[in-house]
Amino acid sequence: MVIVLFGKPGAGKGTQAPRLAEALGVPILATGDVLRAALREGTRLGLAAKSYMDRGDLVPDDVILGIVKEALASDRFKGGAVLDGVVRTVPQAEGLERVLGELGRSLTAVLAFDIDDDEIVQRISGRLVCDVCQTPVPGGEVGAPCPKPGPTDGGHLVRRKDDEPEAVRTRLDVYRAQTLPVLDWYREHGTTVRTIDAVGAVEEVTDRALSAIGITPERAA
Ligand code: AP5
Repeated sequence: MVIVLFGKPGAGKGTQAPRLAEALGVPILATGDVLRAALREGTRLGLAAKSYMDRGDLVPDDVILGIVKEALASDRFKGGAVLDGVVRTVPQAEGLERVLGELGRSLTAVLAFDIDDDEIVQRISGRLVCDVCQTPVPGGEVGAPCPKPGPTDGGHLVRRKDDEPEAVRTRLDVYRAQTLPVLDWYREHGTTVRTIDAVGAVEEVTDRALSAIGITPERAA
């Protein structure tokens, strides 16, 4: 099963990804997390992506498709994937189709999380993430240790640079101009696209997403 999580910045893709991945028994590929990890480690990929990410622009398609191709061809993803943050442009949709075709697989569905801009601004203005595992943490304080259950990952809560108001505005503009047309591309290519109401309790949104792909939450649990 290969699922694309689609939606505006702050729609809840990163919150839902681990919940859906656990229910479906497949790993997550989150391009934003891969890029932020590269940035933190100061690799060539991170340095190349930094200026795009800081101002809220998209990283070039060839960079993203390189990450996707390498990951999906690895053993870790041979049973499927939840793709968080890919696909964001039509060339990425075409590239993903090509990569999956080469691997003898196909996309199961696109889950499009639906939410209005006012709710996005409110969510993002309050968002802190762990600087190691990158999990969004509601209601935390900057500098507090990552509260993820289990052994500590040593991370602390930070505010993402691209969550500053100007970068958020750019990200929403970029979404409308470059990312939204991807949904029409998928519909025209016969891919299953399901719209999920992304407003409500996190658990409710998960249940809606699972139901949309024909999995009852009880069966998944
Ligand atoms: P990325 O990290 O993918 O960011 P994004 O798509 O902008 O999405 P976010 O992480 O901001 O939001 P989200 O939808 O995951 O929401 P979250 O769960 O955190 O990408 C960052 C950058 O990397 C891009 O701008 C680009 O530069 C580059 N990049 C990455 N992929 C790329 C690609 N394919 N092509 C080109 N460039 C790429 O939730 C948001 C907040 O809301 C959190 O505080 C959360 O706690 C809260 N929340 C979540 N659900 C609920 C709920 N149901 N009720 C109340 N609050 C909720």
